[in-house]
Amino acid sequence: MSIGGQPRIRLANLPTPLTEARRLRDALGSHTRCPRILIKRDDLTGGLAFGGNKVRKLEFLVADAQRRGATVLVTSGALQSNHARATAAAAAVAGMGASLILTGEQPATGVQGNLLLDDLLGAEVHRVAAGPDRSAATGDDAEVVARVMADLERRGERPYRIPVGGSNAIGTLGYVAGTLEIVGQLFDLGERPTRLYYANGSRGTQAGLALGAKLYGAPYLSYGIAVSGGEPEKSARAVAIANEAAGILATTIGVSPDDLRGDDDQIGAGYGIPTAAGLEAIRLLATTEAILLDPIYTSKAMAGLIAHIRCGAIAPTETVVFLHTGGTPALFAHADTLVAASAGSPRGEAE
Ligand SMILES: Cc1ncc(COP(=O)(O)O)c(C=O)c1O
Repeated sequence: MSIGGQPRIRLANLPTPLTEARRLRDALGSHTRCPRILIKRDDLTGGLAFGGNKVRKLEFLVADAQRRGATVLVTSGALQSNHARATAAAAAVAGMGASLILTGEQPATGVQGNLLLDDLLGAEVHRVAAGPDRSAATGDDAEVVARVMADLERRGERPYRIPVGGSNAIGTLGYVAGTLEIVGQLFDLGERPTRLYYANGSRGTQAGLALGAKLYGAPYLSYGIAVSGGEPEKSARAVAIANEAAGILATTIGVSPDDLRGDDDQIGAGYGIPTAAGLEAIRLLATTEAILLDPIYTSKAMAGLIAHIRCGAIAPTETVVFLHTGGTPALFAHADTLVAASAGSPRGEAE
């Protein structure tokens, strides 16, 4: 199914489940202190090499690439980029090449997590050294991108550029369609949650959720928990992307800065660096629901939700949705940190 006549290919297993996390609620204070928590399992969009939120965006991006006769998808991100891995996977099933420009130093753990999967999926990887600013996510290195694109053209390929995180107007349609799915599921279940929590990175997900919520009358307010710095430019970018996507859909409904909510209390020491609260969230979700969060995005988003519950910002009578955006392969690239945190946890000490 497409939206607004925009081409879309099928990459994800949809709809993803929307399930209640009862044991998590019990662990967070039960019905006297904790709202009901529904988890939207977009970690289960795969099928496609571990899935995640990026698969929804790629359904529209790869269709656009095919329409333009492209032969290679070119994108960039951090060394453990979930988006880059999902792009490599989408390219494989679409019969295209993938050229990934990845920023960061080779970690002591070697080729692990998403980087290992990029290799297995047959992607061509170009490494770029990291800059000094650890608060921001690694972004486009315009010069390297231009060089890679030119080199592909010289080799007779037709490269298609996908920005960091797949966050442009076309990619954003993934979460406009995703919102339609969520709103439909909530209607079928008779649920009216007050809030939806998710991890905020390059903001394409935020843009799609914000536009989708207005288009489809979502009952909830969306809270994006930032995993990297860059305000206020990033919010401005989310608004611009959402409104460009609205243009593609030929709707007069638009998004303004007032439609975006969230906090940046969970970034910690910077993008890609796990936090104590995030590591606690990983263990809590694993031990209560057997749901695996990732150390870079979803653990920080869940830590944000837990912080809001613990400070009483959400009443126990409310229902909230947590959007699990995937990212699980990065767990394996952070094994040492997770094991060290486990040794410090109460259960770790007991064992
Ligand atoms: C697992 C995961 N969650 C959330 C995000 C954030 O999505 P966006 O970049 O659209 O803000 C990403 C982006 O890479 C991700 O990999």
